[in-house]
Amino acid sequence: MTSPLESELQTLQQTAQTAIAAVTDLTTLEQLRIQYLGKKGELSLILRGMGKLGADERPRLGAIANEVKEALQAQLDQRKQALQQAEIQAKLAAETIDVTMPGVYRPLGRQHPLNSTIDKVLDIFVGLGYGIATGPQVETDYYNFEALNIPADHPARDMQDTFFLGDGRLLRTHTSPVQIRYMESHEPPIRIVAPGRVYRRDTVDATHSAVFHQVEVLAIDEGLTFTHLKGTIKEFVRQMFGEALPVRFRASYFPFTEPSAEVDVQWQGKWLEVMGCGMVDPNVMKAVGYDPERYTGFAAGFGIERFAMVLHQIDDIRHLYTSDLRFLRQF
Ligand code: DAH
Repeated sequence: MTSPLESELQTLQQTAQTAIAAVTDLTTLEQLRIQYLGKKGELSLILRGMGKLGADERPRLGAIANEVKEALQAQLDQRKQALQQAEIQAKLAAETIDVTMPGVYRPLGRQHPLNSTIDKVLDIFVGLGYGIATGPQVETDYYNFEALNIPADHPARDMQDTFFLGDGRLLRTHTSPVQIRYMESHEPPIRIVAPGRVYRRDTVDATHSAVFHQVEVLAIDEGLTFTHLKGTIKEFVRQMFGEALPVRFRASYFPFTEPSAEVDVQWQGKWLEVMGCGMVDPNVMKAVGYDPERYTGFAAGFGIERFAMVLHQIDDIRHLYTSDLRFLRQF
């Protein structure tokens, strides 16, 4: 006759075996081990009932219990190994790097044509021994006009339709105020280039923008003449266009220079107006406390957009501001 303990052991073995076989992860497997074979597990529970058995039954049931325990332990070990193996395989598969897979395309960033043009201009002047200066875009009437020999009633103010701010200040109409600010805080000799944004109340079209960029050039020293100015501009043009193009100085007028000139460059069969320049007016020297009997100097100013458009054959200034990638990718 089989004792009830014996059939309990059989049932335990069967349910445990089915459960272990169905386990798919190591945590659950460990839980099963504790549930069946742990100190307070189901097997221990059954074995506690052995005390009630007769001395003749005990060894036989003890042996059966041992077999059940060993069988389950073996199955647990085997299952554990298989699951560990599977875990490693899954990890390896997940971490595989396919070195033959095509890379992710990341478009290369590049400089905006306005910035590269400014950089080119600055590089040329730095190569000629000039330093770089900057000034504020919100200016006062004094720096933008007055100190540059453009008094309040001067007709030259009409040439630069100005954005005035509510507090009486204004958006600078040119980079020339940087001349004044720099001279006020430095003593000659001076050689600077000043790049920056300028603002004019212009109607926007293919060649006009209310915001654009200029570079100002200023040299002050003893004994500087118009010949130094011409030589500097010619060298600048040669480097900017990559060849010694014919350059023409046309007499012109600016309140802050005397004499003044406009510079034309012969480019693709046409005279192209590229900048204004001249010898710094004695009144400007006086405004910053320089002695015009001792110092002379020259200045020049030009638009960056103009150069960028000519050098890259851009037909509409608005292309430079609309951030259209189809346009920008060309550079
Ligand atoms: N400031 C002038 C303008 O915006 C350009 C200019 C002309 C600057 C002659 C100069 C200069 O320094 O000497 O129209």
